[in-house]
Amino acid sequence: MLEVKELMVFYENALAVNNLSLEVKEGEFVGIFGSNSAGKSTLMNTIAGLTLHLKYREERRGGERITILGRLKFDGEDITHLKPVDRVQKGIVLCRERHPIFRDNTVQENLQLGGYLRKEHEVKESIAFVFELFPSLKRRRNQKAGMLSGGEQEMLAIGLVLAARPRLLLMDEPLLGLSPVMQQELVRALKRLSQEKLTIFLAEQYARPIMPLIDRGYVIENGTLIVSGSGKELVDNPEVRSAYFGM
Ligand SMILES: Nc1ncnc2c1ncn2[C@@H]1O[C@H](COP(=O)(O)OP(=O)(O)OP(=O)(O)O)[C@@H](O)[C@H]1O
Ligand SMILES: [Mg+2]
Repeated sequence: MLEVKELMVFYENALAVNNLSLEVKEGEFVGIFGSNSAGKSTLMNTIAGLTLHLKYREERRGGERITILGRLKFDGEDITHLKPVDRVQKGIVLCRERHPIFRDNTVQENLQLGGYLRKEHEVKESIAFVFELFPSLKRRRNQKAGMLSGGEQEMLAIGLVLAARPRLLLMDEPLLGLSPVMQQELVRALKRLSQEKLTIFLAEQYARPIMPLIDRGYVIENGTLIVSGSGKELVDNPEVRSAYFGM
């Protein structure tokens, strides 16, 4: 479904992603792991088209020079030069940290807005599904989003993204900043989404809770691919184990 081919991303002269090739097949749950500054966000943003958008904006302002080399394909089609909104239209949706929510609207209204491009009965269905995934949101459905805890807002942001019915869900460090209870709720939700055959590509620094969920994973360091393999292969790799999974 997604193919990343020999991708390189430079900010000025600093190399953030180094000759990275990987793929995510339809229905797979793939993880990408790496420590701080490994290039996870740059990769996710590049797949979503945000790095290209930033590059054009910087060029207009005469600011930072961003170079993107290599190719991105989605369903066999070259999307390397596509605008972010056109990628969303194809079903490529990125859930980032601090994804915007509508703070003055209730949880329920937020989810309705998230599905605004779709038919009413479909939206109802996906809102019901989001509430099933995140029971804590259901309990607060009539509260203003701005009144939710940080973790609940994060869940709502993910719910908003799901209400848009992505085909490829990209997630950048969704566990970051969540309490252990919220992390468990999210891990359960991810497991369920993966059972429903949603294609997921997720970046995390804190790999441990994600490992049991993934079909395959990649580990990157300074933008460079170190190892790849099934969840079990990664956990069994002694180097990966000590460096990334705290085991
Ligand atoms: N807009 C930018 N301008 C210049 N350098 C950047 C920019 N964004 C990221 N970088 C640099 O690119 C490298 C990769 O950063 P990136 O944010 O992709 O890593 P990350 O794996 O997401 O890290 P973290 O775990 O901290 O989120 C880092 O060295 C970072 O300083
Ligand atoms: Mg990041």
